[in-house]
Amino acid sequence: MKTRREFLKDTCTACLSTAFLGLTFSQLTSCSSFPIYKTNLSQKIVSVPLSNFAESNLVILRDMQVAYDILLVKKSETEFNAIYMKCSHQENPVTATKSGLFCSSHGSTFDLDGNVTKEPALAPLKKFKTIIQDNQITIDLNS
Ligand code: FES
Repeated sequence: MKTRREFLKDTCTACLSTAFLGLTFSQLTSCSSFPIYKTNLSQKIVSVPLSNFAESNLVILRDMQVAYDILLVKKSETEFNAIYMKCSHQENPVTATKSGLFCSSHGSTFDLDGNVTKEPALAPLKKFKTIIQDNQITIDLNS
């Protein structure tokens, strides 16, 4: 028979283990990493080789002169989204996952077309025009 002290020790160890595993699992499932294509924009138009989508349908475009990253979503061979990763609620950066984007500030979520799937955000995320040409996707940041 266990003493009260042994019982509490075993129970607390189990609880901590469960909490740790739960936290770790939660971090793993919400932690997504996608290829990052870094640019140095001299103009407001950038081209990204389509070969960057060989491993993933999602590529993050990052430029130090642009305040937020841009998520490039390959919807088909001829259709792409370029989504500005700035939350439409209060302008915090959003995080991309395989199924959409979320904002950790107040919990808004968006689909891979930038549409709101969970409030408090009401407006969709900004999207830029894209053109597919010569094995490149060109994003017009003026659009
Ligand atoms: S700033 Fe994104 S949900 Fe509020």
